[in-house]
Amino acid sequence: MAESKPTPLEPSKLGTKAYWDALYTTELSTHTSDPSLEGTVWFDDSDAEAKILSYLSPENDDDDHPDHSPHPHNLDPATASILDLGCGNGSLLFSLRDDGWSGHLLGVDYSRQSVALAKQVAESRKNEDLKSVEFKVWDVLNGDIPDISPEHGWDLVLDKGTFDAVSLSDEKDTKGRRINEGYGERVLQLLKVGGIFLVTSCNWTETELRNWFETSTTPNDDKTKLKMVGRIDYPSFSFGGVKGQTITTLCFEKVVVA
Ligand SMILES: C[S@@+](CC[C@H](N)C(=O)[O-])C[C@H]1O[C@@H](n2cnc3c(N)ncnc32)[C@H](O)[C@@H]1O
Repeated sequence: MAESKPTPLEPSKLGTKAYWDALYTTELSTHTSDPSLEGTVWFDDSDAEAKILSYLSPENDDDDHPDHSPHPHNLDPATASILDLGCGNGSLLFSLRDDGWSGHLLGVDYSRQSVALAKQVAESRKNEDLKSVEFKVWDVLNGDIPDISPEHGWDLVLDKGTFDAVSLSDEKDTKGRRINEGYGERVLQLLKVGGIFLVTSCNWTETELRNWFETSTTPNDDKTKLKMVGRIDYPSFSFGGVKGQTITTLCFEKVVVA
């Protein structure tokens, strides 16, 4: 993979915390009035959540799932620890729990209102037969890693739309880079070696996501990297002779480099 940084996105309000705080304040009050209204699930029109569940299912194999390229993950639904970055209303983690993923499930979001909504939805869905899902206010770029990470890191880190949102911020980090440039380093620090990062984006193509994530290294340690090991295919469209997909989901594994 060539080490060239994709062209940065034009900043927008979706890259600001104020936007997300306002959205989740509204969704929280809507859910309080009517608990059947749980808020926005991003990329629902592409059926992303169902496809992610199917991709992660231990029964996933190529013949049954032509829209997947399989990966050699050995995640055990009974024990796998799963972190959802920018969890919004928590929908993806609730679906995983319902689908039999019974390990430690944690959703983090930098918007306090998002976490309040996810906790309120959890309360209204309460099922005595299922272990609860945990939610915390935590900033993916600035939060202390030990505050949320198991000793050796997470088995599976999920991102659905959060790298997209971060890529729309005009903020710079201490190195003077747009903040999305440091995202891969953070993911590497959160994952255990052999752990999986599954990212879903509507703003970046497969090549661009690979350029962002496969070129990231952990600060003070360039012995581990992210390597693409699979993808989920979505219906494609053709426009002006160019073939594209509405969204992209890629699967990366944290590997040790020789
Ligand atoms: C497009 S929404 C996706 C929400 C959810 N993942 C879904 O698929 O429905 C992006 C989410 O990222 C969160 N977010 C953006 N920047 C963040 C950051 N630096 N740390 C934590 N969460 C962040 C926003 O608050 C918002 O909930």
